[in-house]
Order: sequence, then C-alpha cells, then structure tokens
Amino acid sequence: MIFGVDYYPEHWDGSEWKKQAALMREAGFNTVRMGEFAWKLFEKNEGEFDFSFMDEAIEVLSAEGIKVILGTPTAAPPKWLVNKYDILMRDKYGRPRGWGSRREACANNPHYTEKSKIIVSKMAEHYKDNPNIIAWQIDNEFGCHNSTRCYCDHCRNAFSTWLEEKYKTVENLNEKWGTVFWSLQYDSFDDIILPGYNSCEGDWGNAQSHNPGLDLEYRRFASESWVNYQNMQIDILKNYTDLPVTHNLMGHFSDIDYRKLSKNLDFVSWDNYPETQWGGSEYEYVSMAHEIMRGVKNKNFVVMEEQAGPAGWDVLGKTPRPGQLRLWTYQAIAHGCEGIVYFRFRTALFGMEQYWYGVLDHDGVPRRRYYEIKKTGEELRGIEKYIVNAENKYDALIVKSYDNVWGHDIKRHSAGYNYENHLYSFYKANARLNVNTAVSDGDYGKYKVVYMPAYNIISDDEAEKIKDYVRGGGVLVLTFRSGTRDMFNNVRPLSVPGVFADIAGIEVDEFDAPKREVAIKGEITGTASIWCDIIKPHTAEIISRYDGEYYKGRAAVTVNGLGKGKVYYVGCGLDDPAMEALVRNIFAAADIPVIKSPGGVEIVKRGKNAFVLNHNEYEVSVPLTGKSLLSGQSFGGNMEPFGVDFIELSFK
Ligand code: GAL
Repeated sequence: MIFGVDYYPEHWDGSEWKKQAALMREAGFNTVRMGEFAWKLFEKNEGEFDFSFMDEAIEVLSAEGIKVILGTPTAAPPKWLVNKYDILMRDKYGRPRGWGSRREACANNPHYTEKSKIIVSKMAEHYKDNPNIIAWQIDNEFGCHNSTRCYCDHCRNAFSTWLEEKYKTVENLNEKWGTVFWSLQYDSFDDIILPGYNSCEGDWGNAQSHNPGLDLEYRRFASESWVNYQNMQIDILKNYTDLPVTHNLMGHFSDIDYRKLSKNLDFVSWDNYPETQWGGSEYEYVSMAHEIMRGVKNKNFVVMEEQAGPAGWDVLGKTPRPGQLRLWTYQAIAHGCEGIVYFRFRTALFGMEQYWYGVLDHDGVPRRRYYEIKKTGEELRGIEKYIVNAENKYDALIVKSYDNVWGHDIKRHSAGYNYENHLYSFYKANARLNVNTAVSDGDYGKYKVVYMPAYNIISDDEAEKIKDYVRGGGVLVLTFRSGTRDMFNNVRPLSVPGVFADIAGIEVDEFDAPKREVAIKGEITGTASIWCDIIKPHTAEIISRYDGEYYKGRAAVTVNGLGKGKVYYVGCGLDDPAMEALVRNIFAAADIPVIKSPGGVEIVKRGKNAFVLNHNEYEVSVPLTGKSLLSGQSFGGNMEPFGVDFIELSFK
C-alpha cells in the first residue's frame, strides 16, 4: 500500500535530499507526493521549461526505493504569468484577487487554461516514461481559499452560453426562474448577470439577495467550471500515460460537486487535518469526512495529506498526543482509506506554512512523531490484505446532495439551521451506535436505511426512485424542509412535504422556527429546536408530540408504512438523546444490530472483523473480545488512551 509523505525538494538544498530520502526509507515510506506548487521552477519564464531539479530529486528518492506521485503545479501561477496576462479571479465587487499566495486564477480564463494546458503537456511528455512515477495528482485542492466562484467577464460570458445551452430560449429561462418578480426579465442571454453585488446585499443581514434560480445555477456552473478545468488536465495526462490520476479533495467541502469532480479520476484522495489552529474536529465529524470521500465514487480512497504534527498558519493548534497520529491513521483505514501520505516530511523553514509541522521538525531530527508513524507503517504492512482492495458493508446511507447544500445556503430557512450540520447530526447518532453509515447518493437498494434529511430540491425522477425503494422494503427517513422545491429552486405548489407527502402519509399544517427549545414526548423524548413542523397525520402513526408552545400535543415525528417499507418523518431538529432514541427506533424497524460503546470509542465493522478506536485521552474498557489481528494476542477489552485495535470477531 502507499505509505508516504508530502515532500518539497525545492525547499531544501540539494545536498540535503539524500539524507532526507534515507530517513524516509528508514521510516518505511515508499512514496512521496511532490511538484504541486513548483510551476515557477518548471517554467522559469514563459515557454522556458526546465525539469532538472525534479529529475534529480526523483533519482535521489528512487535510489532509496521511494516512488513518486507527481503533482501538476497549476494551483500556484507564477508572477510572470500574472504580469503578462490578466488571469486573476474577480470577487463579487469586481475586485481582482491579489497575487501572493495561491489559487488566484479563474477556471474560465482563457490565458490561465491555455498556460495550464502547456505546462501539463510539457510535464506529461517529460515524465511519461519515468518508471519512478506511480500516479499523478492534478493541481491542489480546487476551491480552497474560497476560490470556486469567480465574478469576472470570462465567467459571465461562459455562464451565459451555459444557460443558453440549457434553457434554449431566454423566455424559457425567464419563466423557469420567475424573473417577473421585481421586473428582472432578461431580453437576451447577453443580459445575464452573475449573482455579485446588488442593492439588497447586506440588507437585514441577508447575504443572498439574488433570484434563487440564478444563484443556484451559478453555483452549479462554477462547480462545473472546475470539473471541466480538471477534466482538461486529465485528458492531457491520459494522452501520455496510463498511470492513475487523482486530485486531493477536502472532505466536507461542498462548493464543488465532488461526485462530478471525481467521476473521471481513477481514485479519490483527500487532505485530513483533524486538529489545527482553527480547532479540533469531533471524531464522528472526521469519520463522516472519510465516508464522504469514500462515497463520492463508492470506492476506497487515499489520504494524500494526513496531519503529522501540530498545525497552524500564525498560531499553532494542539500538538497531537502520543498515539493520536496512529489513531487518525487507523480511523482513515477503518473508513476505506487504502493508502496514506503524511503532510509533510520536514517542516518548512520559510514561507507561509512555517508552523505547519510535518513528520520532522525544522531541525530534521527524528523524534516521537517520526517513530510513531514508522511503527504504524510496520503494523499496517502486517494487515495490508485487510486494507487494500477490501470492501466494506454499510447498513445505512445518508444522502448528501450538493444541490441541497447550495439551495439551503441560498435560503437558510431558520437562523441556526445548516443543512450540512443537519446531515452530520444523523451521521453522529449512527456512529454513536456503531452502525456503518455511507454518505453518498443514488444506489438506495444497497442499504436497509436511507436518510434524506432536508432533501428539498428534488427532481420528479428522484422522487419516484426513492418511492420505489420504500415500496420494495426500504426504510426512508425524511426531515423538515424536504420535497418542496423543483430543480430551478422554485417552491412547488404543493402541501408540505411536497413530493414526499403521499409516502410520508402526512401534511404539514403549520411550522415554526422557534427561538427556544420545545419539549417533545412520546416514544422519543427530548427537545426540539431550529424548526418545528406541526404535522397532521393522514395515514402515518405518531411517534412523538410537542409538549410546549401553541402546538402542544401536535405531532412532531411520525412513521408511515408503505408497501414493504416505512417512511419516518422528523419534523424538528432533535437534541442528542432524542436523536439516539430516534435512530434506535429506526434500526429496530430495519433489523440492524447496534453496539453501544463507551463515549469516544468508535467501532467500525469490516466483515467479520472490527476496528476499535479509542478517541479518548484516557483508558477505557470496551465490552468486546476477540483475537487482535495487530498483536496476535487476545483482545481483552482494555484500551490505552488513543488506543487502536483490529479484532477478529463475529457479527450477525
Ligand atoms: C492543505 C494544502 C497543503 C497545505 C496544507 C496545510 O490544505 O493542500 O498544500 O497548505 O493544507 O495548510
């Protein structure tokens, strides 16, 4: 399996490379990822190419048996390019993005795309027969630094053409978007604007002040612009090489539709930083990120940048505790990672990321983190057959829809409401009961339970597909603000929950965006917040009722039998205990076994085996026994702080 580090030979004197490569080999690293920011070194001035420094670095590394994932350098356009051509993105006020960091260029800028084509072709040609290269990474983290959406004239023109292809006539577009509202009808596609600054912006705290159809389409277009830009690079590489091509994604990041972005990639990779200057993530949040990354192609993935030390740009986050780097590695593997690359080998002495610590500190001396990672690699080699090409089974699916991420961002429904946090609340509740949960879309039939929380923008076809799933015996979980919008981001003229009303067997009579918690009681007891649908059941049974406000006694959570399946409707945001009670109820209905582990202990089932991960900084005792596939000894249940095990166990 790939076990490597991100490496920047350009940050070190050539005389250091040999020593560093030897230390890598001693740590068991077999791969480096490099090159992704070295455009200026590869093309000193326009048309002057020189790959000699990289050639030499590859030689030195290969002498130690280390292979290379080579990055195309287009995330960091050099100054000569910016001086000569206007490639900079524009913000929503029309201001050019400043040069001096990275990710300044616009995906629809013809100069940038042209120069990108040239550098990628030159690299591909130069390296096509190099046996030390095992894969390519395109660019670096598309969309990072808020760089997905640009408001320049190139984007406007391309958007107008894109809309014309989709809507054919401007009359059709006017009708679909409802531009009659506030006299916003367009007379031609040339009139189309981008949803930049307008006179409503900021009014009453309202950040999104455009026609919702325009806003949604623009987000789709901007996402697709980067997909096209990436596909342009993939096509070039594939002309020269059969090697696998990837891009490093960013887990929960949602400005780009990751399913579309990864469609033409051979494998997905991503960058995982659980604990940085900006805070630490809950372990369930990190696990969900891994599952999102597995779910975009429903395939195992690689972590291309795994945190290897304390991390921050100006101040530092918490130092990873002894055992934590190993734990994060196993957490990734438990969720479908089959290759891991640590960011970065030695910490930079200069540049923006002087405080983003790697495996080695600034002085290059191996210490605790180096030895912990080395030991982790040794262990992983012993269980490789359970990792590479291994498949996993999932009982539940959470459907993440990028259209709905954008739609809910455009109209947030309720202060404090966030679609992605709402999805996460379900993932977390499932994780607490150790039910393997995929985060993906589409293939509903593979799962016993499908959650479609707040699935608001939905096509008629999708609605039919999910109904068939339920009739065939599936358990579907819907929540408030579902089924009420069409694909143009208009509200459907239907009773809530719109296209789902018949299968949920309910009608939402009224709703409330409460400013305080509302008690609920029944089979599920706890509190509701953020949103309260006041439900009138038709054929559905009531699971819980409100116990407060003017809707005291009215239904809050229901379940409806349909064909061989069931539809749950959750009309409100639930607190953690109520969520646990809800998902227990659902799993009982779907005949899915749960395991209640001590707080902070994650169990991920892998066929007959299970990864057991103690995310606590204290010892715990886990009520499981079995043979440890890591130590060969029997696992008695005691786990050290941040401890990990992989146990042979029998699950029903
Ligand atoms: C990632 C990025 C790396 C490095 C790292 C630490 O987002 O891909 O190049 O910047 O973060 O900040």
